[in-house]
Amino acid sequence: MKVLVTGGAGYIGSVTTRVLLARGHEVEILDDFSTGHREALPPGVPLHEGSLLDAGFVDRVLAAPVDAVLHFAAFSLVGESAVRPLKYYRNNVGGSVNLLDAAARAGVRRFVFSSTAAVYGEPDEMPITEHAPTRPVNPYGHTKLAIEWALADTAAAAGFPAVALRYFNACGATPELGEDHEPETHLIPRLLRSLLDPAAGFAVFGDDYPTPDGTCIRDYVHVADLAEAHALALEADARPGLSVYNLGSETGASVREILAAAAAATGLPVEPRIEPRRPGDPARLVAGNARARRDLGWRPCRSDLPTILRDAWDWHRRHPRGYRG
Ligand SMILES: NC(=O)c1ccc[n+]([C@@H]2O[C@H](COP(=O)([O-])OP(=O)(O)OC[C@H]3O[C@@H](n4cnc5c(N)ncnc54)[C@H](O)[C@@H]3O)[C@@H](O)[C@H]2O)c1
Repeated sequence: MKVLVTGGAGYIGSVTTRVLLARGHEVEILDDFSTGHREALPPGVPLHEGSLLDAGFVDRVLAAPVDAVLHFAAFSLVGESAVRPLKYYRNNVGGSVNLLDAAARAGVRRFVFSSTAAVYGEPDEMPITEHAPTRPVNPYGHTKLAIEWALADTAAAAGFPAVALRYFNACGATPELGEDHEPETHLIPRLLRSLLDPAAGFAVFGDDYPTPDGTCIRDYVHVADLAEAHALALEADARPGLSVYNLGSETGASVREILAAAAAATGLPVEPRIEPRRPGDPARLVAGNARARRDLGWRPCRSDLPTILRDAWDWHRRHPRGYRG
């Protein structure tokens, strides 16, 4: 298939692009480099440099027809979204509306959207299935849910099948591509950066949660497994309307388990500061992934902690300043 990847210079989009190319798809990338990296682009892949906020630009990109759109481009800092909500509504919702409008008019045959566990908020039941109520607790999650609604309505009206993949905590790396966000808010890259630069320090927020070791449990999924899920969603039998899938490993790991896995992968002592709980951090968030396994044949086979920490550490050790070196 000919596929347009928005956000293909970012963390998950760049890894997915490599998987699509390896499976014989033809890929074009649309990115404005607001958080992405030129170094993450594969050689020879056509690049449309510009923002989804420029509706004319998006129309021109989609004037040359593509079969499918994979839509990663978004801002995704939860804390910043609470301080600057309209920055998130403008970019995430506004950009997606421009993209959906152009995609529907261009007659795309499939649309795959990067959604998030944040659409669930703090559900009562674990593991979280796709039937759980969607009650986001921050503006970032609101924007992602709003895009799911716009996507469902557009897919129904324009008659193309659409997929929303709700990722849990993306992590890990491939030999060439890793996680380089600024600021970095994700646990594993922050931890590994602190091992490379002990002056940076590393804090665990709360060790008195009602979990076996007192620290929060989250569901970590290797970026290569996420990328694989996108290829499967693209290639699966088309279902009308919007299909929603959780992408998580279904097991969950506590912060202390991550620290132990990091110590084992790096051979370095891991000595965090313990700080008080942060408001709004639920004790446990774990995905049910049975639907993605059943419908897409997805198997998150790299999402065990030793593999995640080994791959992330390999990348960070070789790129202590991220893509800058
Ligand atoms: N990383 C995670 O753990 C995680 C979890 C759940 C969902 N997600 C979602 O997955 C997607 C990718 O996440 P990521 O971690 O790879 O993010 P990222 O910041 O690394 O990549 C986003 C890419 O989109 C581009 N972009 C942003 N706004 C744009 C615009 N208006 N026009 C053109 N390009 C634009 C950026 O330059 C960047 O290359 C996002 O939609 C995010 O919300 C990520």
